[in-house]
Amino acid sequence: MVTRRPKILFIGYGHLARSLISVNFKKNNIIHAVNSKNNFYSINLNKKIKSRDPFYDFIFLLVKPNTFIKKGIEFRTFISKNSKIISCIAGIKLSYISKVLNTKKVIRIMPNILAKNNKSQTFVFSKDKNILNKKFIDVVKSFGSYHYVSNEDQINVATAVFGSGPAFIALLINSYILAAKSLSKNTNLKDIDLINLFQNVLSDNLNSNELDKFINSISSKKGTTQAGIKFLKSQNIKKIMYTTLDRAYKRARELSIEK
Ligand SMILES: NC(=O)c1ccc[n+]([C@@H]2O[C@H](COP(=O)([O-])OP(=O)(O)OC[C@H]3O[C@@H](n4cnc5c(N)ncnc54)[C@H](OP(=O)(O)O)[C@@H]3O)[C@@H](O)[C@H]2O)c1
Repeated sequence: MVTRRPKILFIGYGHLARSLISVNFKKNNIIHAVNSKNNFYSINLNKKIKSRDPFYDFIFLLVKPNTFIKKGIEFRTFISKNSKIISCIAGIKLSYISKVLNTKKVIRIMPNILAKNNKSQTFVFSKDKNILNKKFIDVVKSFGSYHYVSNEDQINVATAVFGSGPAFIALLINSYILAAKSLSKNTNLKDIDLINLFQNVLSDNLNSNELDKFINSISSKKGTTQAGIKFLKSQNIKKIMYTTLDRAYKRARELSIEK
């Protein structure tokens, strides 16, 4: 039996929306996108289209939180009886989305920018588990891995750790690269060697316990590693990381009440 490809509308086609277009996602779905000027595009055909489809299986909310608060009610016109709303918007609560769009078929997901290469860990929350059918799960899996959370606040945690997280990690790695390069004018360190260093440490250590043992195995007393580790600990690196994530988490929670 030939199954129909799901029809999908992206409301908003910015940074996150573009990163969701993985090869599989594009192959398996019919995707349209609408922008702030109400122009419609076919993502599969890569061209502007005159009108939208009267029926979409999934409608992705990919606008900024403030846009949804100000303009969300106008999105009702895109919804038909069986459409499911998939919100990627940070912070905005499911109950609010449901009220603005006048539908109970709302799912919140938190993917990240790594979806393009199927590497997003995507967190999913819905009040009604029955709407999380195979078609929906297949869509999410085309971004990477699927993780269901049983309470809505965990979406705020996922927003901080997995949604914003890639930027925090990129900043940390880049700080290491820039610091290593500026250590001595005579060394000519290559970015690729420093990136490989990160990848190699990660490929040898798969959990927190292993990382701890790994640190101890290199830090001999009064040695070079211990000198650096001592400084990092004196600056309370753990607290810096905690505060970074906590700020992002609190911001996600603030967004849900900033209306
Ligand atoms: N970036 C991330 O890594 C990430 C991760 C997780 C979640 N999120 C969430 O994803 C959402 C989008 O973030 P983003 O970084 O992709 O934002 P963005 O790059 O600023 O994109 C926003 C898009 O919304 C469109 N838009 C604005 N008003 C509209 C309207 N009235 N109707 C239809 N489209 C409209 C804009 O269209 P124009 O191009 O015409 O202005 C633009 O394409 C946010 O809610 C954010 O919380 C983002």
